[in-house]
Amino acid sequence: MASSFEFAHGAARERIQRGGAPLDRSSFSCPRARSSGTRRDMRFSLGEPPRDGEPRDRKVVRPFAFFRAGAHPSAAASQRPILVFEDVFKFFRPDQPTLRDVNLTVERGEFVFVTGPSGAGKSTLLQLVYRKQTPDEGRILFCGRDIARLTGDSIPYLRRNLGIVFQDFKIIPHWTVFENVAVALEILAMSKRLIRSRVSEALERVGLAGRGEDLTGALSGGEQQRVAVARAIVTEPALLLADEPTGNLDPHLALDILTLFEEIHATGTTVLFATHDHTLLEQRPHRIVYIDEGRVREARSGLRDLRATEATQDDRDRHQAGSGVVSMNAVRARAR
Ligand SMILES: Nc1ncnc2c1ncn2[C@@H]1O[C@H](COP(=O)(O)OP(=O)(O)O)[C@@H](O)[C@H]1O
Ligand SMILES: [Mg+2]
Repeated sequence: MASSFEFAHGAARERIQRGGAPLDRSSFSCPRARSSGTRRDMRFSLGEPPRDGEPRDRKVVRPFAFFRAGAHPSAAASQRPILVFEDVFKFFRPDQPTLRDVNLTVERGEFVFVTGPSGAGKSTLLQLVYRKQTPDEGRILFCGRDIARLTGDSIPYLRRNLGIVFQDFKIIPHWTVFENVAVALEILAMSKRLIRSRVSEALERVGLAGRGEDLTGALSGGEQQRVAVARAIVTEPALLLADEPTGNLDPHLALDILTLFEEIHATGTTVLFATHDHTLLEQRPHRIVYIDEGRVREARSGLRDLRATEATQDDRDRHQAGSGVVSMNAVRARAR
């Protein structure tokens, strides 16, 4: 699959070639829920991709219009849900779908926990959004466009609308904090002056103001994850995906990072936050998408709501016991 590295320019490309791992992400023009209000909207000032005939490493393949740099989203696009899964199936083994018949709508500006036991399919669900995986059946609409049908060449343009944060941070320890964050903008060939101001703003937002010159590997785990969050938000993505971002952190740091995501959410970014950590879910009444055995169950406002839904489901199962229909709850209860 094409990675953003192939589209990296100048400083980012040189730095990656010096020994850093390629960064498989970047930013752009799917509208956010609302402006962060901290700076004028820079989404359309990033310039057009280089034209045909430019040297290979400066050439950006032509994506379809909506995700192209400089493309203004229509008013209709701004009204659509940011993400829709329609009858999605994903198989890693032919006999057993990892995700089965997933139907899910995420509105612009929502904060959604994605949860479920280890191996349930949380990472797979997020990977379908950033096109590390493609669905075997169904459609996935991002801002109204079916991203399952994107060609490899267009995937970097999709990813410019996304920020992604991983459990293991994926920072480059021998780069400075500034370099780790700046790389997300350098691959967009943005001017050095603009990069400096945007990176320092992002570092301020994650509580690392003035730490740009520090070596990232020397920071604590919680601080390293903040660097990764700064890199994910510096491009002002419409949708922020977090895959167990607190999995490697102590409980109190985990809560700090969750709070940081909530602050980012408050500035207009839609957030999908995957975690299996019930202590985090207990703390906050966000919408929950619960995956178990490939199926999705939903609760609008937190874990208590989810438990109520499960209790209702169990009641229904008891009534249906004669018909042989058994819920996942009942299966789990029996296994205990
Ligand atoms: N690339 C892959 N190839 C084969 N199987 C996979 C792949 N990715 C995930 N799986 C399988 O899909 C299931 C869900 O995995 P995953 O989405 O990582 O779960 P979670 O993030 O909830 O722990 C697991 O059984 C896992 O082994
Ligand atoms: Mg996972």
